[in-house]
Amino acid sequence: MNTKQKKNKKEIRRKFVPKKSGAPAKSNEKKEEEKNAGALKGNKKKTFEQLRGMKDILPRDEHWWKKMYFTAWDLAEAYGFGYLETPLLEDANLFIRSIGKGTDVVDKEMYVFEDRDGSRVALRPEFTAGAVRAYLTHGLFNQPQPVKLWSIGPLFRHDRPQAGRYREFRQFNCESYGVHDPVVEAELIGVAYNFLHDLGIDSTIHINSLGTTEDRQHYLVELVGYLRSKRGYLCEDCKKRITKNPLRVLDCKNESCRPVIEEAPQIIDWLSEDSKNYFMKVLEYLDAMSVPYSLKSTLVRGLDYYTETVFEIYEDNQEEGQQSALGGGGRYDNLVTELGGQPTPACGFGLGLERVVNSLRHRAETSGEKTANQETAIFFAQLGEQARKQGLRLIEELRRSGVKVAHNLGKTALKAQLEMADKIKAKYTLIIGQKEVQDGTIIIRDMESGIQEIVDQKKLKSVLLKRLESVKE
Ligand code: HAM
Repeated sequence: MNTKQKKNKKEIRRKFVPKKSGAPAKSNEKKEEEKNAGALKGNKKKTFEQLRGMKDILPRDEHWWKKMYFTAWDLAEAYGFGYLETPLLEDANLFIRSIGKGTDVVDKEMYVFEDRDGSRVALRPEFTAGAVRAYLTHGLFNQPQPVKLWSIGPLFRHDRPQAGRYREFRQFNCESYGVHDPVVEAELIGVAYNFLHDLGIDSTIHINSLGTTEDRQHYLVELVGYLRSKRGYLCEDCKKRITKNPLRVLDCKNESCRPVIEEAPQIIDWLSEDSKNYFMKVLEYLDAMSVPYSLKSTLVRGLDYYTETVFEIYEDNQEEGQQSALGGGGRYDNLVTELGGQPTPACGFGLGLERVVNSLRHRAETSGEKTANQETAIFFAQLGEQARKQGLRLIEELRRSGVKVAHNLGKTALKAQLEMADKIKAKYTLIIGQKEVQDGTIIIRDMESGIQEIVDQKKLKSVLLKRLESVKE
């Protein structure tokens, strides 16, 4: 760098580079919403709020959503799942018959309403029932089995909103039809586990077997007898569950029910030899794939269609009491017949994407880790009309080579532009001032070290690509 360039660099730094704010992004969304509501007070027209339990997805989380959708798409394709998109609205009875009366989803959480033609429809509360309906509607049972389908998108449950529990949420969902073999469970669990692993989340599978319908009938006689003898120690909900849905007592979160649940007969002891061997094979395959799991004798899941293997997936190192499943699934060999098809084995899982985003965001906030976008973010700043024109040309050239450049060309003051570069945590800012316009050069400023290099505009692309390559390595 010659003395002239050094002087130029100093000048730019002195005049225009804003001090790093260092203030962490506000994580308290509620506070922010309240502040904004306050700012709008006094306006003549009434403003609208989001419905309870519904959330906007904002650009600040774009990075996470994009990463999840891309990862889901890549994995589903790699494991041979075909993309399925079913309507948001289905016949309400499809879900009632699949998920079962007596479950929270059907009894308390489904959005059911009368359509304009008088039919009863429901917003889909899950993907599984709609996927089976599509499998039957389109004769996918005629194709070579297994038929493997995956979906992604919004679901609706009128749940009590709390952290990680919303009324509109999204799932990455996979289903496999036509094969009854432990290797199917192993593959599906592998997809769910690898999805989280590829996003950088360590997780463990909680797993159990509910046996066949027959195994379960024998077990339920024993369980109901036991629960009746302990009725006085159970919460009011569980007292009702003894007759309505006794299995659900086993995953009651109420502390008062804990001792009764801990002493309850375990379903694993009531499995037939065949079911036991089947379950052991699933575990052997998970071992072979190095997928960590832990046996949970009280895991029963909240939907009625499951038979044999059931599982949930939990993030490792979560605080005790904060644990909520990132996903869940299992085998449901009777559902296709229940919905009018031929006997068809089936198995699948759904992962809750809002919970995954919460975990990714929390991890980034606590570790201060940069997103991949921030590692390579580039900002262009200009001073003057000629610089703006040259910038437009260079931005377009870079975009064609796969380099995305952020800018705020609407602003004329360099200070305001550099503030924005700081805000998006740009790795490099490209600057063209009047001098650079005349010289045909451009300044590449490393935003962390403050070191600047002046390069010929014709060499910008190759210099920048080389730098970005070394950041990624
Ligand atoms: P699920 O356990 O009801 O299973 O939901 C799977 C995941 O969706 C949960 O573990 C959670 O991460 C997320 N989830 C559920 N409800 C909410 C909510 N109100 N707010 C935010 N996230 C939520 C099923 O849906 C089954 N259909 C999965 C399956 C597919 N089984 C076989 N195939």
